[in-house]
Amino acid sequence: MHQLQHLHQRTCLWLEALVREGRLYSWLQRLYWAELGGARRFQEIVTRWRPSGTALEAYEGIIADEFRHADLIKALLDQHELPLLPAPTSERYWDPVWGGITSFEDACAAGTRGEMLARNRFRVMIKHPVTPQDICELLMQILPDEVRHAKLLGEMAGNEAMKRMHPHHLEGMAALGL
Ligand SMILES: [Fe+2]
Ligand SMILES: [Fe+2]
Repeated sequence: MHQLQHLHQRTCLWLEALVREGRLYSWLQRLYWAELGGARRFQEIVTRWRPSGTALEAYEGIIADEFRHADLIKALLDQHELPLLPAPTSERYWDPVWGGITSFEDACAAGTRGEMLARNRFRVMIKHPVTPQDICELLMQILPDEVRHAKLLGEMAGNEAMKRMHPHHLEGMAALGL
């Protein structure tokens, strides 16, 4: 089966299981930390590689977006009277990917793959009939940002870094069970 089709099917099965087992809102509690973790990772990239000019502007925009995404998720959790969970101590996808970064371009390549993962998952969730309306609306607010982040980071990464980071990406995907 084509790789994208396979991922699409896996994502649908994952989502259907979450809904069936009543775990969709606990996924949202984890997504809060994924967004906040994203913001902090991008901040770390800026601190470590010191981009300037338009690259710095792009990163600053992305960081502000990720903090805003976390706030939007927190607001929805509040509506459901769900607390924030303690911050996770490890991230399955990022642990193997982060260690493979050796340059600013590598960091952008890692970032764009992460954004693509979020983007693809959100697209499936928005279209799937099992997703509750309020989560759909939240994801529809966030999705255009993730699409833009994936594009911007991909342009800054370039093909060489995308190729260099590919094995680390595959390791991260394997850790996610994909
Ligand atoms: Fe985000
Ligand atoms: Fe993003």
